[in-house]
Amino acid sequence: MSPPASTTERPARRARPSVPWWRRPWIVPLALSTLVFLTLSVPPYLGLDPDQAPIPVRADVPWHYPMLWTHIAGGTVLMVLVIGQVWPWLRERHPSVHRWCGRVYVFGGVPLVGIPALLIAPLSHTGPSSQVGTTLWAVAWLGFTVTGYVMVRRRRYAEHREWMLRSFVLIYGIALQRLVVPLLLLAMLPRIGRDYDGGVSDLVMDLFPASMFVSWMVPLIVLEWWLGHTRRIGRRPSSAVS
Ligand code: HEM
Repeated sequence: MSPPASTTERPARRARPSVPWWRRPWIVPLALSTLVFLTLSVPPYLGLDPDQAPIPVRADVPWHYPMLWTHIAGGTVLMVLVIGQVWPWLRERHPSVHRWCGRVYVFGGVPLVGIPALLIAPLSHTGPSSQVGTTLWAVAWLGFTVTGYVMVRRRRYAEHREWMLRSFVLIYGIALQRLVVPLLLLAMLPRIGRDYDGGVSDLVMDLFPASMFVSWMVPLIVLEWWLGHTRRIGRRPSSAVS
């Protein structure tokens, strides 16, 4: 059975009246939080010096630092691309830019971000649970991104949008992780000396594994709820993103 026409039609570009950028309240916070995250996280890697990396680099694995570096360089490009990809103004006014950025996202992101993430995940110094969390995260991102691409090739645009939104949410997991760790720490601090024997730095290390699940699974659950909601009320995800 062929899919319903609404899912296979290329989205009508001018069907909706154009809404000025300042009426999309999420685009500026998204761009600003990306800028803050990249400004704080990327500079230690610019000198190409493994000793400057905030996380321990495995000296016995010669490809650890090059893979981590590649992952971070690719991740920086992808985070910037996502802002343009979800920005309705750019999608509607410049669809060819959207298509080209999408190709860069998929064909650059898979080999430069997703596969390196899979390779470095088992090397994490934060322990086996973190390694499981980040491996699942990388597998999910690769799965969502490839499925999103397959959907657009099959002209199933509604499904393409949903899979790419899942992929985008997972890309931002790394930025969210920077907030999740301090939030978990705040919640757990009262337990130090009561039913937790270690100090603050032990607690941070013990919370890392939880953060490697919470940072991408919670946003994904929220997105799934929102996608279900937009389906129920009959709105296309893109019009709600818009
Ligand atoms: C698909 C999404 C992503 C996955 C699955 C992922 C996975 C990973 C893994 C496994 C590590 C190694 C962690 C460790 O050794 O403890 C890592 C580190 C890192 N990733 Fe990603 N990552 C993703 C997206 C991104 C993006 C978009 C950026 C943006 C620049 C990024 C920046 C970093 C940085 C800076 C580190 C070094 C560790 C840190 O400072 O937290 N990642 N990532």
